[in-house]
Amino acid sequence: MSKQTDDLFKNIVSHAKEYGFVFQSSEIYDGLSAVYDYGQLGSELKNNLKTYWWKAMVQLNENIVGIDASIFMHPTTWKASGHVDGFSDPMIDNKDSKKRYRADQLIEDKIERYEKDGKTDKAAQLQKDMDDALNDDDLARLKAIIEEHNIVCPMSGTKNWTDVRQFNLMFSTQMGAMADGAEQVYLRPESAQGIFVNFLNVQKSGRMKIPFGIAQIGKAFRNEVIARQFIMRMREFEQMELQFFVRPGTELEWYEKWKEARLKWHLTLGAGADNYRFHDHVKLAHYANAAVDIEYNFPFGFKEIEGIHSRTDYDLKQHQEYSGKKLQYFDHELNQNYIPYVVETSVGVDRLFLSVFANALVHEDLSTEDKKDSRVVLKFHPAIAPVKAAIMPLTRKDGLPEKAREIMDKLKFNYNLQYDEKDSIGKRYRRQDAIGTPFCITVDHQTLEDNTVTIRHRDSMKQERIAADDLGRIIGDLTSWNNLLQQLV
Ligand code: GAP
Repeated sequence: MSKQTDDLFKNIVSHAKEYGFVFQSSEIYDGLSAVYDYGQLGSELKNNLKTYWWKAMVQLNENIVGIDASIFMHPTTWKASGHVDGFSDPMIDNKDSKKRYRADQLIEDKIERYEKDGKTDKAAQLQKDMDDALNDDDLARLKAIIEEHNIVCPMSGTKNWTDVRQFNLMFSTQMGAMADGAEQVYLRPESAQGIFVNFLNVQKSGRMKIPFGIAQIGKAFRNEVIARQFIMRMREFEQMELQFFVRPGTELEWYEKWKEARLKWHLTLGAGADNYRFHDHVKLAHYANAAVDIEYNFPFGFKEIEGIHSRTDYDLKQHQEYSGKKLQYFDHELNQNYIPYVVETSVGVDRLFLSVFANALVHEDLSTEDKKDSRVVLKFHPAIAPVKAAIMPLTRKDGLPEKAREIMDKLKFNYNLQYDEKDSIGKRYRRQDAIGTPFCITVDHQTLEDNTVTIRHRDSMKQERIAADDLGRIIGDLTSWNNLLQQLV
């Protein structure tokens, strides 16, 4: 990271903390690595992002339904899915610092350094060598690459490396009271398997016809060895996943459709097309016949925000085999039984949160010839803003607070609001700008006479005088989910 991007990123992290969006978990005990808590405004923003996804998937599509499966699943699930044997990262330890690294990330850092130094040919060759080694699961070759390119441990500065070994990323724990008779269970590393094992339950109880989808939002856990970049790579995180079940042979057509649909969804959030790109997978996961990432241009570069995978019939077939229960669908049009193919879209809520937060955070210079001035604004789309409006009596006397509370009491059933009577109006505006509140409503002496208020718009900073009775409609129009959802159809 250059000094400038490093500063930008530090600014995002500190703003998120200062205004109650994201805190380090158990901070009073010095934190827990790669685990974070969402604060009072962060949880509002996160809930809004989840609501938007759920509405776009489940509410807009009559052939998609949502479920909420458990985090714990029968341990055989993870045998069948391939996670027990195959969900691992290639790790290497430095014998001097005793630090453990992901071998591919050490190499990626070197590629980045080559690129920064203008050695683009060398970077491209190294990328190819690494991709080939990963594709062939050739751990000895990965180690050789690290040695050939003189990659040193960032802590000790030495090249005293162990061999590269695979390290399983699943957390396990014991279920049951007695340690002896207890069963080893895993914290799910993806929410998807909760959908696969419920495929027939949902299909039958919901009388679903192919093509149809099952959506889910939920926590996932991975024992990531390298914890980096704030909420980008966490050990406990949240996913929003869709498994879309289709006729065999049509999966690549659906894969293309979902690629476009998901990119369109991200674009509605307003970060601009230049900030997104597709990245095709070189090494396909064991279950996929096509896979792509949607990448977002974070302050530290383009990184994956969502994965779209054509998962074939791998998962249902595996669960059928391991459970001994038929997981087939009878297609009345074809008069035929088959195991459906699956196209998956999987977006990380936390990475989405970071992308939206990073894009929204703007430092504006408002200086004039006479006066230096600036403000920090979170320019969230009004529909996802944590607080929709702030209600402010101009002064703390003359019955203005009572009138402001009366207005707030009418609006609070529909909108998340803040009441603020402390400090000057200017300072209060700045506080609301910094948390992304689209509207500030000021109650003044005129309000007592004619029941009008001023409404101040966050982005333009323009103020208008309107009837207090129109507030519900005006806030409703601008913060409505329709403004986002209608762009999708
Ligand atoms: N079911 C498919 C699946 O889990 P994935 O590409 O491993 O695919 C999907 O994960 C998304 O979950 C990623 O695009 C990312 O946004 C998010 N994600 C994965 N690991 C994460 C982590 N350690 N911390 C935060 N988000 C993560």
